[in-house]
Amino acid sequence: MEPEAKSRTWLAPAKINLALHVTGRRVDGYHLLDSLVVFTRFGDRLQIEPAEADAFAVSGPFAAGVPLDDGNLVIKARDALRREAGARATPPVAIRLEKNLPIASGVGGGSSDAAAALNGLARLWKLDIDEAGLARIGLTLGADLPMCLRAKPLIARGIGDELSPLAGFPALALVLVNPGVAVSTPEVFKALSRRDNEALPPLPGRLDFHTIRNWLETTRNDLEPAARTVQPGIGDALKALEKAGAGFARMSGSGATCFGLFETGNVAKRAAIEIRGRHPGWFVAATRSMEAD
Ligand code: C5P
Repeated sequence: MEPEAKSRTWLAPAKINLALHVTGRRVDGYHLLDSLVVFTRFGDRLQIEPAEADAFAVSGPFAAGVPLDDGNLVIKARDALRREAGARATPPVAIRLEKNLPIASGVGGGSSDAAAALNGLARLWKLDIDEAGLARIGLTLGADLPMCLRAKPLIARGIGDELSPLAGFPALALVLVNPGVAVSTPEVFKALSRRDNEALPPLPGRLDFHTIRNWLETTRNDLEPAARTVQPGIGDALKALEKAGAGFARMSGSGATCFGLFETGNVAKRAAIEIRGRHPGWFVAATRSMEAD
């Protein structure tokens, strides 16, 4: 028999809203969305191992500013799962978070960390709980948790929790750019001028770089105009991506991170080097999105 792995590292991918239409608002104030979402190979990393006592540590380029107490979504996820399964089934764990994604930046970093914690801890603790069960617990922590648990190309509706997988959706070469500014999601939603926009148009039958780019031209991120008034630096990030040859550039989520779409990974890597050269203080990452199963 194989010796059981004591420690395992989980990727917490960046979540990219390729398109995001705001289609309404619930009575509780949450907004109804219609969003095409992909996840990237670049992200945070979460190492989980059994320990004498619970521990949590954060390293990486964006470690500063990450709360270490139960204000952190990883700790909230651990505690929510423990409440569900009981203390006996959930012995102490040491969790190390490598924070590679900028904070409050529209790429779902905190939600993705919490999703990786739910997936990783459910596996380590050998809990009999499926994705729907984890999504139910995750939704109590944030609207983006269910999609981050799935981490495959999908359409998200409702408040972001009604998920439809996108069969046949290819991997895309992307460059992520953040001009070094944090954006408050509630502030952006509050600044919206319209909340009753139309749903996303139907996707093309054949999905490749060209058809996806053409389809994206017919869609929007409805949060982008509001976010750009809150944080004008977003416009600079979009301009830098366009100047570096992106086939398409847009803000993700509530910003400020923007993505550029490129035809190949090599072109994306060259563009990332160019943008980094011009803007040494910015976060810039060339990556690929994960394809559908
Ligand atoms: O669910 P989460 O805590 O990540 O959301 C942060 C904030 O973003 C919410 O408090 C709400 O103001 C806003 N939000 C929204 N509609 C959504 C998702 C988030 O208005 N679908």
